[in-house]
Order: sequence, then C-alpha cells, then structure tokens
Amino acid sequence: MDYQDLMNRALEARKNAYNPYSNYGVGACVALKDGTFIVGANIENAAYGSTMCAERNAIYATYSQGYRRNDILAIAIAGKGDDVCTPCGACRQVLAELLDKHTPVILSNEEKYIVTNMEELLPRMFTGEFL
Ligand code: THU
Repeated sequence: MDYQDLMNRALEARKNAYNPYSNYGVGACVALKDGTFIVGANIENAAYGSTMCAERNAIYATYSQGYRRNDILAIAIAGKGDDVCTPCGACRQVLAELLDKHTPVILSNEEKYIVTNMEELLPRMFTGEFL
C-alpha cells in the first residue's frame, strides 16, 4: 500500500470540503482491496452540530456501497496545520466500529503523514463485543 499516494488522494478530496464556518478543510480516502478508492470531505452546516467530518463521510460511503471492514486496506485523513490532522472523538468511535483495529490509519497535513490504527487511537474501545 502506497501511503503517500493515499495521503495525496485525501488531500485532493479536501478540495471539495464545504467549510465556510471553520475554514478548516479535511479530506479522507478509503483504499479497498479491489483497487477502488472512496473519498469524503467535511461538510459543514449553519446548525453546527449537523456538520459531518471527512472520515465519517468516506467510511459511511464505503459501507453504503456494500463494502465491509474486511474489504478495507487503509484510510487516510488529511488536513492543514503544523501537525497532522487527527480524528475527533465521534469519528474515533465510528472508525473503531467500522475498521479492523489493526487496519492502517494514515494521518496527514500537507507535508507529512504518520501511520497508526484504531487500537492506538481509541484504547479500551467500546465495541459490539460488550453487547
Ligand atoms: N473535521 C473533520 O472533518 N475531520 C477531523 O478529523 C477533524 C475535524 C472537520 C469538522 C469541521 O468541519 C472542521 O473540521 C473543524 O472542526
């Protein structure tokens, strides 16, 4: 898996962010084992709580097209700033459910990326295994 390429695809998706309130654009890209890439961008709303983050748009679109966690190779999330973009708490909970805990999660800004996973991003996660 070419993580630099996946980061670039997330940065490209970021151009479609609708972010008039925060002016903080985020892009995300899911890489699938069948060679498909599914992107998302953050879409804001005047009722701020109705905003949807880039990575949730990307992972929900992935599932909406019928893919499941075992089909996913990696996800990249790209923002701007001195440090790499990192998912909010709500996105961590969603990604913990919809990704394998060891699937590579690429966090980036415009210059660099790091590779992590949901086990690192959400230790002691609450999952369906408790129910
Ligand atoms: N945002 C994302 O889309 N993903 C993240 O990982 C962090 C935050 C969005 C939500 C909102 O539109 C803007 O960034 C500022 O919080």
